[in-house]
Amino acid sequence: MSKPKVFVTRKIPDKGFELVKDFCDVDLWTGDLPPSRDELLQHARGVEGVLCLLTDLFDGDMMDAIGPQLKVISNFAVGCDNIDVLAATARGISVGNTPDVLTDVTADFAFALMMSAGRRIPEADCYARSGAWKTWQPMALLGLEMKGATLGLLGFGRVGKAMARRAAGFDMRVIYYDPLETKSPSDARATRVEFETLLEESDFLSLHTPLTDETRHVIAADALSKMKPNAVLVNTSRGPVVDLEALYRALEEKRIFAAGLDVTEPEPLPLNHPLFALDNIIVTPHIASSSKAARDKMAWIAAKNLIAGLKGERLPNCFNPRL
Ligand code: DGY
Repeated sequence: MSKPKVFVTRKIPDKGFELVKDFCDVDLWTGDLPPSRDELLQHARGVEGVLCLLTDLFDGDMMDAIGPQLKVISNFAVGCDNIDVLAATARGISVGNTPDVLTDVTADFAFALMMSAGRRIPEADCYARSGAWKTWQPMALLGLEMKGATLGLLGFGRVGKAMARRAAGFDMRVIYYDPLETKSPSDARATRVEFETLLEESDFLSLHTPLTDETRHVIAADALSKMKPNAVLVNTSRGPVVDLEALYRALEEKRIFAAGLDVTEPEPLPLNHPLFALDNIIVTPHIASSSKAARDKMAWIAAKNLIAGLKGERLPNCFNPRL
């Protein structure tokens, strides 16, 4: 029996790729950079399934151009803002994602960014390497303390809750605002507050919200103006949640203390972006989930989702609201 044709848009860990190869007739994009829209279409036209990354955009036009045989788009990510899920659902195409397996590693990284920005670790490393370190100084590179500080979480889903668990070990107070919360809050480790209060009271504000029309640029000039002068902003969610022009002005004018961004708009952040000229920001290249264990598990789940979709079964991790 012939195997179903699929397009895999980048090399993924063998843990998942082996499963895909066993079950499917695979066209693998071997480039280090994502396929362009034209290249994506050229390779995906006529396939029954696609295993893609968050850098590959799938809108309704793309789905139609691939063809009516397309059964499943399996995203190698938990966030699916690169896929028009409503358009997929309307066409009966299953969309899969990879939740849970990257929750802790992402929270670890957000915490590391928070502490690195608050304690100025990259700046201190540059200071030591540059020869500026002449002696021990009572007031060199003064940073912020975690104990007793308020951690504010925008978004209280899986990663937000994992942040709250970590914060307990640092004796922090935790508050959160979750625009998507539908049930009444019930987590003893964190107190729900309004968005304004979150901005006004957080010493560390960490973003854990999906990118939606409501959350796009939710952290812009107005929100930043409400934050404490000593606040640290950390984003490991999606770049467009933060307006980087407004963030640049806030950091440059020292209206907030520092920021740590693992995600930016655009990605990659161009080298000539003004943010790179500032000392009080850390930028990392969207690596919060980047541990070998997490990426292996993401690959495995993405493969399982793909194969289930090809078989016409419900995906183990289905992102469509109904299907
Ligand atoms: C995701 O999965 O959505 C992350 O941004 C990448 O791991």
